[in-house]
Amino acid sequence: MTAPEALREKVESVGQGHVLAFYDELSSEHQDLLRRQIEAMDFGQLSEWVETYVRRKPKFDLPADVQPPEIVPSDGGPLAKSAKQRGEELLAAGKVAAFTVAGGQGTRLGYEGPKGCFPATPVVKKPLFRLFAEQIRAAALRYGVTIPWYILTSPTNDTATKAHFRQNDYWGFSPKDVIFVVQGTMPAIDFNGKLLLARKYRLAVSPDGHGGSLSALRKSGALDEMASRGVEQISYFQVDNPLVRSLDPLFIGLHDLAGAEMSAKALPKREPMEKLGNFCVIDGKTRVIEYSDLPEELARSCLPDGRLKFSAGSIAIHLFRRSFVERLTADGRCLLPLHRADKKVPYVDPAGGQTTQPAEPNAVKLEMFVFDALPLAEKTLLLETRREEEFSPIKNMDGADSLATSLHDQVRRWATWLESVGIGVPRDADGRVAAAVEISPLYADSAEELRKKVDKTITISPGQNFYLGSRGQIGGS
Ligand code: UTP
Repeated sequence: MTAPEALREKVESVGQGHVLAFYDELSSEHQDLLRRQIEAMDFGQLSEWVETYVRRKPKFDLPADVQPPEIVPSDGGPLAKSAKQRGEELLAAGKVAAFTVAGGQGTRLGYEGPKGCFPATPVVKKPLFRLFAEQIRAAALRYGVTIPWYILTSPTNDTATKAHFRQNDYWGFSPKDVIFVVQGTMPAIDFNGKLLLARKYRLAVSPDGHGGSLSALRKSGALDEMASRGVEQISYFQVDNPLVRSLDPLFIGLHDLAGAEMSAKALPKREPMEKLGNFCVIDGKTRVIEYSDLPEELARSCLPDGRLKFSAGSIAIHLFRRSFVERLTADGRCLLPLHRADKKVPYVDPAGGQTTQPAEPNAVKLEMFVFDALPLAEKTLLLETRREEEFSPIKNMDGADSLATSLHDQVRRWATWLESVGIGVPRDADGRVAAAVEISPLYADSAEELRKKVDKTITISPGQNFYLGSRGQIGGS
């Protein structure tokens, strides 16, 4: 069958006729796939993107007046007690949902399969999804309530993610309380503004960035579903940080008492040029400026007391008021600014039909970043957190931010908790923990929780694989 006239006209009128180069030779099933993909594309918008982001490289113009933001100290400051209580009340009233963004491609880690299935803990090798499931279930048990868990997937990893949950009995959740939300995609565009074919019957697309999570919540019906459950606050975190406290009563309470629409946890940077987004205030609005956009001179500037002026790094832990996400997505989408990244995208040559694996970047990928929602909020709150307690992501196969560094940091954190309650942990001459130590979040998800229940006579030997299970039973080897 030849391509329907209307379809051909649609793509040819915007100079994208090559996407139908193989249409006539495709099976009817593949023709359908391609046709639906093309029909779903807004070509008016595509031309705009080509003009704005492909033909030109958008330059970031730093405004003249950039100020550091106010940040609540990690102990919560003077409001700590009432805030924690407020957070606990909200949790106990079922007004908080967990939201994990897990739609990324995880190219740097190079793991086959969704990153959430990656074995990430030191003794039990729990997949990341299990670790978070245990944290959320621990909170649900503590507060005697159901806490729904929303998980952002992409069209590429949705099926595999759902299969992982099915095969593992939803890690103890009731299936109706784990809600998968598939994010949108953006086409890959070559430097001449042409769409690329990943296959003869499929355009090359990639997930539209974690910023796409907000419109995905709307389009999937998840926001309405949250409303029907009485959920008011969304606790947002990334799939690759095993140290995250996915539901933190102090953070939730501070955010709520401040009347914030969106909040974020901030980390003191290790050094001025650390590759973390920088929290700043511009025109009275809190924003994140990417590390590559903050001039070195500003990144190194200090306050009169010698502290770094822009010391607060963004680690993608947020709270959203549901009403804020509803407002942002009221017209059915959420147009956060797009960010351009030049990538190597394999493509089928429309002339010869062969697949080319480019050695150099050949295309533009466009993504939205969730932190760009911050300046759209009427009110925001930033809470400082401690790196050793809450941030050690698994991004790379080796080197910095890899499984090795994260395992080290997980062991160190759990060992510190044990020591803080009086249990000895073997350490080597350099003070490094000389055993593998892991605690189930279902048993204790903080040092405070551990103190309430642990048997203080426990001993851990050098080299031991020590696991404190959900009921306090000792496992490992
Ligand atoms: P990263 O920026 O680390 O990207 O995502 P990534 O795709 O996982 O990994 P690389 O860059 O290809 O190696 C940070 C978080 O945002 C989620 C990821 O799953 C991760 O939890 N994310 C990212 C999405 O959910 N969707 C996206 O489109 C992009």
